[in-house]
Amino acid sequence: MNSKFNIGIIGAGMIGDVHLEKIRQDGRGRVTWIASRTEDTLSRKLKKYNVPNGSTDYRDMLDDTTLNAVVIAAPPFLHPEMLQDALQSGKHVLLEKPMVANPEQLDRIVRLAGEYKDLMILECSCRHARLQPKFNAVRDMIRDGVLGEIYHIHHNHLMRSTFIEYNPAGTWAHRKELAGGGPFMDWGVYDLSFHLGILDDIPGLSSVQAFTRSGLKHYRIPGFYSDIEEHGAAYMNFDTGLTYYYERGSGVPFETGNETRIYGTLGGLRISYCSWDAPEMTLFLTDENRAGMTERRVVQEAADHDDNLALTTHFLDCLEGISEPAMTVSLAAKHLRILFQILGQTSHSSKKS
Ligand SMILES: NC(=O)c1ccc[n+]([C@@H]2O[C@H](COP(=O)([O-])OP(=O)(O)OC[C@H]3O[C@@H](n4cnc5c(N)ncnc54)[C@H](OP(=O)(O)O)[C@@H]3O)[C@@H](O)[C@H]2O)c1
Repeated sequence: MNSKFNIGIIGAGMIGDVHLEKIRQDGRGRVTWIASRTEDTLSRKLKKYNVPNGSTDYRDMLDDTTLNAVVIAAPPFLHPEMLQDALQSGKHVLLEKPMVANPEQLDRIVRLAGEYKDLMILECSCRHARLQPKFNAVRDMIRDGVLGEIYHIHHNHLMRSTFIEYNPAGTWAHRKELAGGGPFMDWGVYDLSFHLGILDDIPGLSSVQAFTRSGLKHYRIPGFYSDIEEHGAAYMNFDTGLTYYYERGSGVPFETGNETRIYGTLGGLRISYCSWDAPEMTLFLTDENRAGMTERRVVQEAADHDDNLALTTHFLDCLEGISEPAMTVSLAAKHLRILFQILGQTSHSSKKS
């Protein structure tokens, strides 16, 4: 297949590699530039992937007028500046999650996106959420009224491991200032993308009560420290009457699977929404005719779904103009504002309720 788009990757770490590989797999894009902070990573990746151009200053790729789009895959605190430079150079953007590391950066990025409406920005928190088959299956079931009116969501997922065990290069992910937070930033963007998306993005937050805790995990890595939250829970009220109990943790001395329970007036649904979790969901029916019945539904396509390829395919579809971004900056910002409130951070110096 002839490549239609020249794409540059800003940030050649763990996920930068994945983006590069998936762009090649899709075939409609060609990675012509890589930027990394250090010469060491840059030269290794240029050689490994045989990419023609590279720089330790991402601005060099933005001067290339043959480049159509960039993927911003550096740590979150760098995203606003990179996005601004990319948009000013007329590039479309695939923007990694979380978009920013604090509420002030969020305000800036929302303003920026509004100023460049002619350029396409796809934010990546649709990856494990809206672009995978379980999302459509649940949203359609709710739209069809199978569960009645959804009045409560309960979600919990606790893990003992943290980002640094997953990506040893990712020390930045343990610094609040660089990453924005811990599991509520890393995972929360997917959780809210899924749970509010299945309700057609209608609920707006009214209030949050939350706790977060850090200092639970004892690391044995010389020179390493972590100041992010490791465990927390929030009880949220939404303007539609929905309530949502939400618990997350990475680095807690406890493990529970990723489980969402959706409570409706005609039935309930239990699901583990990630694509690597089991493809089936359990439906508990309470309406008059089927009261007390349970039903297992299998989302067939979920079993061998590739979230990262789906993201790349969607990005290229958006570049071709045959799709609209499944996650916009403004929608991702709605989710991040909730997460910042859970973490006790707002841009207006108000405290956690
Ligand atoms: N890892 C994943 O599976 C994953 C999945 C989904 C989303 N994400 C998101 O993707 C982004 C990047 O994550 P990652 O895991 O790929 O990170 P990573 O492996 O640590 O790679 C970070 C990249 O950014 C560069 N960089 C530039 N300035 C940096 C700085 N001040 N500190 C650290 N690195 C800097 C690094 O350059 P050098 O190597 O030259 O220092 C490297 O190329 C984050 O927003 C993350 O949340 C990651």
